[in-house]
Amino acid sequence: MSKPKVFVTRRIPEAGLKKVQEFCQAEIWPEQMPPPYDVLRSKVADCDGLLSLLTDKIDPALMDAAPKLKVVSNYAVGFNNIDIPAATQRGICVGNTPDVLTDATADMAFALLIAAARRIVESHEYSLSGQWKTWEPLGHIGQDLVGRTVGVIGMGRIGYGLARRCQRGWDMKVIYHDVRPNETAERELGAKRVSLDELLAQSDYVSVHADMNDTTRGMFNSAAFAKMKPTAVFINTARGGLMVQKDLVEALNSGKIFAAGLDVTDPEPPSADDPLLKCKNAIVAPHIASATVSSRNGMADIAADNLIAGLSGKPLRCWVNPQVAETRRK
Ligand code: DGY
Repeated sequence: MSKPKVFVTRRIPEAGLKKVQEFCQAEIWPEQMPPPYDVLRSKVADCDGLLSLLTDKIDPALMDAAPKLKVVSNYAVGFNNIDIPAATQRGICVGNTPDVLTDATADMAFALLIAAARRIVESHEYSLSGQWKTWEPLGHIGQDLVGRTVGVIGMGRIGYGLARRCQRGWDMKVIYHDVRPNETAERELGAKRVSLDELLAQSDYVSVHADMNDTTRGMFNSAAFAKMKPTAVFINTARGGLMVQKDLVEALNSGKIFAAGLDVTDPEPPSADDPLLKCKNAIVAPHIASATVSSRNGMADIAADNLIAGLSGKPLRCWVNPQVAETRRK
């Protein structure tokens, strides 16, 4: 029997690629840049499966151009690049890669928090540029962490991971905003669920871990930044689209907030002349939160398993739309 045909939109770690190549007839996009949309659409036209990245837009038109497509396995925990209702309607299974990147992403959020609060990157650039002349009693003064309040938007796995680091390591008070209560966070960390306005007004550190969808897109806008403390630090390791970037730049430049630590931007990457990159009080990392050996190997392993399960008619290991089970394409 011939192997199922799949398209893999970028080279991923061997941990997953090997499994995919053993089970499937796989074409792997060899470039550093993603396949352009039209190329992707023509590549999947006769495929049974697709292993995609968060940079690949998987919309209804692409699905309609691929009548045999049974599964889209996204190499990411987030799946806002995929139209999930459209996939479900067409009987296409969608998989993602949760859990294996929780600690790496929470670590990154905390690293950005402390680096932005203590002006680490700005100070490093100061040293490199030869401006360090003497010990400065009034130079490079940042914000304290111990005993301060961290506000977590979206108390899921990663939000909890960040809150735990802040509470257990730095004795911070934890407040959070989420559509659902998180009893573990309340019991273990003394976290208190509050309204968004209360969170913005009370937090010294605001860290966003929400899904990006129609209700959360752009939630960090000028009105939200205006409610934050002038000493507050804003952290985003989730999705750039959760913030209105020009409003963040205005808040940083006008002193409405103290600093920002970002692993995501909107768009990604920002253009070279994006005013965000000129803000001395913003740290901008190129979406690297999951970039550790074990996270990326784990993501590759789950993505391969999801792809193979979708092709074999079995339940996916991490299944975004299990409700498709009854109507999935055979
Ligand atoms: C994800 O998985 O959604 C991250 O943004 C990248 O690892």
